[in-house]
Amino acid sequence: MHVGCDYYPEHWPTETWEGTAKAMRRAGFNVVRLAEFAWTFLEPEEGVYDFALFDQAIGILGRHGLKVILGTPTAVMPAWMARTYPETLAVNQGQRVEWGVRKQNCATSPAYRRFSERITRAMAAHYARNPNVIGWQTDNEFGYAHAGPCQCGSCRQGWHDWLRRRYASLEALNAAWGTHFWGLTYRAWAEIPIPVDFGTHNPSACLDWQRYGSWLQVRFQAEQVRVLREVCPGHFITHNFMGYHDTLDYYELAKDLDFVSWDNYPVWGGKVEVNYGASGAADLMRGLKRKNFWIMETTAGPGGWGEFGRNVRPGELRKVALHQVAHGADGLLWFRWRTCTVGREQYWHGLLGHDNKPGRRYREAAATAADCRKLAPLLADTTVKAKVAIIYDYDSLWATKIQKSFAQNSWIHHVGLHQAALQRAGVNLDMVRPDADLSGYRLVIAPQLHVLPDAIAQRLNAYVKAGGVLLTGFRTGVKDASNRCHVRTLPGLLAESLGVHADEYESLGDAGYALRGSAAFPGNYTADCYADWLTADSAEPLLMHTAWHMRGYAALTRNRHGKGWGYYLGANIKEPGFYDQLIAEVLRAAKVRPLITPPAGVEISVREGAGRKLVFIINHLEEPVTMPVPAGKLDALTGRRTGATLRLDRFGVAVLRW
Ligand code: GLA
Ligand code: ZN
Repeated sequence: MHVGCDYYPEHWPTETWEGTAKAMRRAGFNVVRLAEFAWTFLEPEEGVYDFALFDQAIGILGRHGLKVILGTPTAVMPAWMARTYPETLAVNQGQRVEWGVRKQNCATSPAYRRFSERITRAMAAHYARNPNVIGWQTDNEFGYAHAGPCQCGSCRQGWHDWLRRRYASLEALNAAWGTHFWGLTYRAWAEIPIPVDFGTHNPSACLDWQRYGSWLQVRFQAEQVRVLREVCPGHFITHNFMGYHDTLDYYELAKDLDFVSWDNYPVWGGKVEVNYGASGAADLMRGLKRKNFWIMETTAGPGGWGEFGRNVRPGELRKVALHQVAHGADGLLWFRWRTCTVGREQYWHGLLGHDNKPGRRYREAAATAADCRKLAPLLADTTVKAKVAIIYDYDSLWATKIQKSFAQNSWIHHVGLHQAALQRAGVNLDMVRPDADLSGYRLVIAPQLHVLPDAIAQRLNAYVKAGGVLLTGFRTGVKDASNRCHVRTLPGLLAESLGVHADEYESLGDAGYALRGSAAFPGNYTADCYADWLTADSAEPLLMHTAWHMRGYAALTRNRHGKGWGYYLGANIKEPGFYDQLIAEVLRAAKVRPLITPPAGVEISVREGAGRKLVFIINHLEEPVTMPVPAGKLDALTGRRTGATLRLDRFGVAVLRW
């Protein structure tokens, strides 16, 4: 297992490098990531390459047993490039951006793409046979752009070319976008605007613009990957993704890579809060390639660019790291080794402070590295094998950003309500794309599958018919792949497996509707923000409306279809506890049971494979927890066997062999 940190030798005097490498080694590290912002050092003038600094640093690191991942340095363009080739800078609202921070380039600029390919090739050729270099990170955090999406002439031309390839004819594009509305029909490709304002432009145009912007980054990366594969066939290639980041189709960005890495910064705010966001993001990152991932950056101390957040408390840095291992991380790097004394990130704290003294956070990282060494042989060839899938669909996410349906709506938050309830129930899940093979799952959850092409709806119906349990709900099946409303009563084709229809629906602002449960689903709840006027046809109503004008309408239903069940949630529910009851109900229908039901604030995640099963038990709380567990299980970290209960320290983690 690879454990280490992100390191910037170019920030520090050469004399310190040896001591740093030794301290990293003492911490038990075996890998560092370098160079993703170092273009100006590697190519100080156009076409003049200089690898001396990194050769020396990599040599020293290598002598101390540290392997190196190199970032292609294209996340920051050197000053000479901006000066000599201003067209490499992005354009925002008609203005070229002022050079001086990172991620300011235009992704279509032929000059930028040429320079990117050249520096990639030069670095690759130089380091292909360096025994200390093991792999590459493309660029840094694609999608994170200070300049926003570029609107220069080259990007506009690229937009038109992309549309031409997608639609072949203007007639087809006009039809797909419905440009007869407001009389916005195009008669020449050049007339097609960049839909800058998602609040006023045609939603179909907006969705395609988002797809195009994503495709540009994927193509930019592919150009680097092609060079790296050709010149460094022995090296792996990855990229540092950003979890729930929402401007790129991450499935597409992941395709060309050997594995996904991501940057996990879950420690914010003043209080310790149990937030399952980092669990869901990890499951998405594993879902992109259906494969384990790395953590390329993670919390090492208070973070911020001006103001900073709270510090990691004792045990928390380790918990944050091992939590990701539990979800499938096979590599782990802290960001960053040492806190900068200069530049924008002076307050983004690393393992070591400004004083360069190895302190508490360093020692905790070292202890975590020791844990990873213990776990490594057991973790080999294991991953999370879930029986539950959540469909995570970028088209639906984007369409919901373009038109939220109701003011309070957040697609990712809504996914998170289901995902966090599964986590609280102690059940692992996979995040999968809508066209994934679902046959291995007993339960599929599709929250707001807003864009629903017919083929996907038919697959979901077939999945239920064959015995699967499907949970979906409001704002599902509203749109086709062009982001036009289907000419159907909601939930469209899915009515077949769900046995319901909604003739009408509304958003509720700050009003609420009282809901009454049933014998099968007891409890009183409140619909707020949004409600379907939902009629149960073949379905059994589980929650009913009680408002005078809503009588007869259901808010939650279940339907027998073939050998399976289709559940439909027709309202946004106010009470947070509702999702726990809902998830318990669908897990029961799917006959999925957790190995252990965790107490509040404790998470269970299971890695299995090669005949081994490792049950991670993670205490997210800053109080110790004692919980019942089967006796006699060996804790791989402590070497002790469990009694009838297990005591976890504050932020404690146990890894039981099952
Ligand atoms: C991101 C970037 C890093 C650094 C950190 C902290 O994850 O990849 O370069 O900027 O955030 O701000
Ligand atoms: Zn551009």
